[in-house]
Amino acid sequence: MSLLSPDVIHRIRSAKNILFLTGAGISSESGIPTFRGEGGYWKTFKAEELATPEAFAKHPEVVWEWYDWRRGICREAKPNDGHLTIAKWQTSSPTVNLITQNVDGLHPRAGSRNLLEIHGNIFRARCTNCQAKYHLEEDGLDKPGLKYCTACESLLRPDIVWFGESYDNRLLTKAWEQSKIAHVVFVIGTSANVSVPANLALTAIRNGAIGIEINPETTTLTASIQLHFGGKAGEILPEIYKEVFPESISQ
Ligand code: APR
Repeated sequence: MSLLSPDVIHRIRSAKNILFLTGAGISSESGIPTFRGEGGYWKTFKAEELATPEAFAKHPEVVWEWYDWRRGICREAKPNDGHLTIAKWQTSSPTVNLITQNVDGLHPRAGSRNLLEIHGNIFRARCTNCQAKYHLEEDGLDKPGLKYCTACESLLRPDIVWFGESYDNRLLTKAWEQSKIAHVVFVIGTSANVSVPANLALTAIRNGAIGIEINPETTTLTASIQLHFGGKAGEILPEIYKEVFPESISQ
């Protein structure tokens, strides 16, 4: 039974610009807890106790402990067929953009190079004083506990957008541009609880993009989306790829 009508397949195949917008759900099949689902991070910890500048100012060692623990989970995780299908799509078509809320690094590990990690990346840190950026593993700073800048010796913080903080303007400007020119927007694995990503999807749809959502649950975006697939990204997205690129099946 096909997932897509011939008309939708035609629209996707003829799209000059495709946008993927992903959230924690696309990584759940890789064993990384989501934030708001069962067993999610926020169920175990209170966001305001950890992912905020106030929490970091008050007890940076606890915040680093939590991120060290999460980084270990992300390092052990492997990209799943959802990440891999997006990476494959990006190699086969010219402008397939990817905006992710995820900080787990699974999209780049799946091979995606054209991506905007609008909430940062858990493997990166930045200096609280001189803003120098570090890749924790490549720069040998991956040990548990407090981490310090090798340039000015000040405390490092996770390079992640915390609650109450503003986004990186450069990334956000690019994200808005990508949402405005998209002909198709895939919204995958996000509860749309965070306004900026949700508005990026809505902007694309308001500018004429066909919206396709993959999520076992419905979200606040579902009413504005043309196609909602109630299921797992790692199962549904590869099937959609095969229907859009039937020639890929023989390979
Ligand atoms: N495939 C697709 N979607 C899934 C899957 C799956 N296998 N498993 C779960 N989901 C869906 C859930 O139904 C839920 O709607 O993924 C969504 C995850 O929602 P959240 O946990 O809220 O994660 P996200 O939307 O990415 O959160 C956004 O909030 O906490 C902040 O900065 C954090 O980036 C995060 C942001």
